[in-house]
Amino acid sequence: VANMSAGGHSRDLIETLNKNNKNCIIFYGSQTGTAEDYASKLSKELGSRFGLKPMTVDFADYDFDNFAEISEDVLCFFLMATYGEGEPTDNSIDFFNFLDNEADTLSSLRFSVFGLGNSTYEFYNAIGKKTNERLQELGAERFSAYGEGDDGLGTMDEDFLSWKDLVIDSLKNNLNFEEHEAVYQPSLKLIESVHSMDDAVVSHGEPNSAYVSNSVDLSKGPFDHSHPFLSKIVKTQELFNSKTRSCVHAEFDLSGTNLRYSTGDHLAIWPSNSNENIDRFLEAFGLFDKADVVFELRAEDSTVAIPFHTPITYGAVVRHHLEISGDVSRQFFLAIAQFAPDEETKKEVLRIGNSKEFFAKEIHEKCYNMADALLNLSNGKPWKNVPFEFIVESVPHLQARYYSISSSSLSEKTTIHVTAVVESEKIGDQLVTGVVTNLLKNIEIAQNNKSDKPTVTYNLKGPRNKFSNYKLPVHVRRSTFKLPSNPSTPIICIGPGTGIAPFRGFVREKISQIKTNNATIGKVMLFYGCRNEDEDYLYKDEWPSYAQVLGSQFEMNVAFSRKDPNKKEYVQHKLLENAEQINSLLNDGAFIYVCGDASKMARDVQSTLAKIIAKGRDISDERAAELIRSYKTQNKYQEDVW
Ligand code: 2AM
Repeated sequence: VANMSAGGHSRDLIETLNKNNKNCIIFYGSQTGTAEDYASKLSKELGSRFGLKPMTVDFADYDFDNFAEISEDVLCFFLMATYGEGEPTDNSIDFFNFLDNEADTLSSLRFSVFGLGNSTYEFYNAIGKKTNERLQELGAERFSAYGEGDDGLGTMDEDFLSWKDLVIDSLKNNLNFEEHEAVYQPSLKLIESVHSMDDAVVSHGEPNSAYVSNSVDLSKGPFDHSHPFLSKIVKTQELFNSKTRSCVHAEFDLSGTNLRYSTGDHLAIWPSNSNENIDRFLEAFGLFDKADVVFELRAEDSTVAIPFHTPITYGAVVRHHLEISGDVSRQFFLAIAQFAPDEETKKEVLRIGNSKEFFAKEIHEKCYNMADALLNLSNGKPWKNVPFEFIVESVPHLQARYYSISSSSLSEKTTIHVTAVVESEKIGDQLVTGVVTNLLKNIEIAQNNKSDKPTVTYNLKGPRNKFSNYKLPVHVRRSTFKLPSNPSTPIICIGPGTGIAPFRGFVREKISQIKTNNATIGKVMLFYGCRNEDEDYLYKDEWPSYAQVLGSQFEMNVAFSRKDPNKKEYVQHKLLENAEQINSLLNDGAFIYVCGDASKMARDVQSTLAKIIAKGRDISDERAAELIRSYKTQNKYQEDVW
């Protein structure tokens, strides 16, 4: 039905609001799930502490034609992430179209905005700021200060809590809301199911409910965030393996589906959790004997979305739907204290949770995940009093991880390649492991019949064997990281480490352009950096054969950062060595591409390029920096950084 959302409520915001007796809306523009997670936490807290009746709203689920009819009795919050180069998140694009082009006045709207951004990017929190300003321009009234959080400094959680404190202050002191002692009020109700785990309707963690019943043709898209495609991994290869790190190349097969990509896009891969992390989590909550028990969820009202297909088993929820290996947040600590297994533990959790400093030192810096943190504080006693509804509502949900695609859609039409460094780091006593990368490593070991022992293990069979033959749920995210439309335009590509991934795709594309279209291609200057020639040089065997086809139009410059113990050599140094040629290519209209680390590398590269341009054109550094900014707006300087 066109006017219903996926959750089954109407797309009419006012109708949904009234029908469900809500008096508070928490809108979220979320790309990776953080804003969504904050929205749900804020909603719970406003409900339990102030008796408000909040609903969280994914912009994608509603129309905005009667947005101006939201009355002053409804408090509105906007949690707005900025994505990429100051862009709105995918789910909020339509909302900004409305704000920019259709909205007239919003004089009865009362709001407060929190922006989620990253200061290592140029357009820091552009969307949060814009929302705050635009709503005021349209006559809406702000009842609490604008706040913003910085992922770049790693202070997002604390920034959010500081903003929330101001909100609560304003609720109590300006709007005269009365505060109660916070008691958890579930929005979801868990019912143990009549089904047994082998019944066909029961989900075992399938990423898309259509997979549970095989009810629709699964080869047809569109494949997206809520409908990933179960892709076979047809080939995996270890690119290097040194003592502390390794890197896996993996090829995903799209044949037989209408899933398409174009060179420079990202592949979203949906992970599952490692057996080790799952066991620890089940132990922390005393859930071992429930792993195979089937339950269903009912929503309190139609504004509450059931987050995954049910009936489902407890074990499948923990394996496929909960983010259990990441950092635990202070807010979660404060919320879960009420379910502590004993008074002493509760006191301890509150002592730490109520102090930013204690939390940083005793939890955050130790890199504890949720289970480890809880078990440490309770001296190993399981937290059996925590309702599973609370876990489903408060633990963030497992999100896809994004990888820059390292193949070319012109040469690999039905295969997507990714290049992933396997993260596994011992911090203090904690072993911190990346979920997707270690899963790919497990597949690589199994697929190539190796005897290596992986750091953590996964269930490679997956639900009802649907994930067997090494399948993983994926979808493609379009990116703006694109080659110039004219193949003869020269390109300068800078990508140390796995930043090389999209440029392997670019180079393969160039070769295809020559071979299939007989195109004349412009110069390709590639700057790559790694530690050592024999340690972590990615695709070392492939580059010579690419050079052979591309001839003098291809030039690869490699910086080895740990070859000479007395001298770090980075891609920037290679850029300086080639300053003259870079300037001349820029004069010929070259495009610049940077991929890899956002916090240091991309900045250092940008300032080095500014110096090179300043010298080449005999202009000031500031003028050159300005020129680079104008290249960015013209898409002649593109970044794919993280
Ligand atoms: P390092 O680890 O020896 O410092 C891929 O990670 C490569 O990028 C490594 O060789 C790494 O060197 C290097 N690297 C680290 N920081 C960098 C920076 N600020 N600019 C460019 N390269 C950097």
